[in-house]
Amino acid sequence: MNDTFLKACRGEKTDYTPIWIMRQAGRYLPEYQKVRGNVTFLELCKTPELCVEVTLQPIDILNVDAAILFSDILIPLEAMGAKLEFHEGRGPVFPDPIKNQADLDKLIVPDPAEHLGFVMETIRLLRKELNVPLIGFSGAPFTNATYLIEGGSSKVFWETKKMMYTAPELFHGMMQKITDCTILYLKAQAEAGAQALQIFDSWAGVLAPCDFKTFALPYVQEIIRELRKATDIPLIYFANNGSTLLELSESSGADVLGLDWRINIGDAAKRVGKVALQGNLDPFSLLLPKDKLKKRIGNILDDAKDTNGHIFNLGHGIHQFTPPEQAIAAVEFVHELSGR
Ligand code: CP3
Repeated sequence: MNDTFLKACRGEKTDYTPIWIMRQAGRYLPEYQKVRGNVTFLELCKTPELCVEVTLQPIDILNVDAAILFSDILIPLEAMGAKLEFHEGRGPVFPDPIKNQADLDKLIVPDPAEHLGFVMETIRLLRKELNVPLIGFSGAPFTNATYLIEGGSSKVFWETKKMMYTAPELFHGMMQKITDCTILYLKAQAEAGAQALQIFDSWAGVLAPCDFKTFALPYVQEIIRELRKATDIPLIYFANNGSTLLELSESSGADVLGLDWRINIGDAAKRVGKVALQGNLDPFSLLLPKDKLKKRIGNILDDAKDTNGHIFNLGHGIHQFTPPEQAIAAVEFVHELSGR
């Protein structure tokens, strides 16, 4: 097995800098579109054979050094009992958002084997096929909570912040319930064979540091503390738009911190201790002409030379209109320029 990714996560020396791409399985690939053409997104997520197929696509096409389980951060929320729909062009919708204690009381903490068995089955099947490590994942409690409270995606997070500031006990109760669910869910993924776990905090960056510390971070810390008791696989925390939260994020206890593109990775390395760093090419810079893209990748690799382990990635998910050949070229450039 190619274990370059796992070594970099642990801060060990590697022959080259490993790369994988957030959302590497997805709509920018015609091969994904083909599978997706026959089923809805939720059907796809619940059919292990199809999840295996689309997880493997970018491994062959892009030559990346890790696979990420095909699923979605919102799948366990549905298992908690929240009604979930995906509307074409509008993204996820929770038609019955959580507004009060009675709504919250209706949610359960699901047994992953019983309610999320299709995810564990996907992981078991993938481990038989893969020759690169498999990353499992979940949303962070704060990010998942925003979807349940807003009823879907948001730009201003009015309802979420209203609950935080005017009904903090309800908000904390909800975060605790999502946390309990996430701990069981990620433990089950590790038991099924996931070789690293990433926690996606896509919306952490909308919080002031003091609110991040009070309302979001303690739950990530609890998840990582509990996982540590169960497994020694690398744990990655990605707080999108989180460069102002970097020191706090480090206190999550994660082995690896994901970085978006808004910070220079060398500057980030100076601010943290022994964690490895993952990132951080602006996803839209994949549109650069190849010579400029190569130079840009070279700069990130140079800037990252003093990190205690570097996993190359984009600073957020690959955009759906990205030409696949640009992503293929980016992977080649990382491998070529970082070879030692
Ligand atoms: O390749 C991979 O990275 C694995 C699969 C994966 C998906 N979603 C598949 C997906 C992963 C890791 C996610 C995580 C996810 N899902 C996040 C965190 C990462 C981030 O981007 O910040 C979030 C916030 C979600 C919630 C979500 N799922 C939204 C907002 C949307 C719709 C908008 C969009 O970008 O498409 C989804 C749908 C989704 N999840 C798709 C895919 C491939 C597109 C669905 C389709 O085929 O129509």
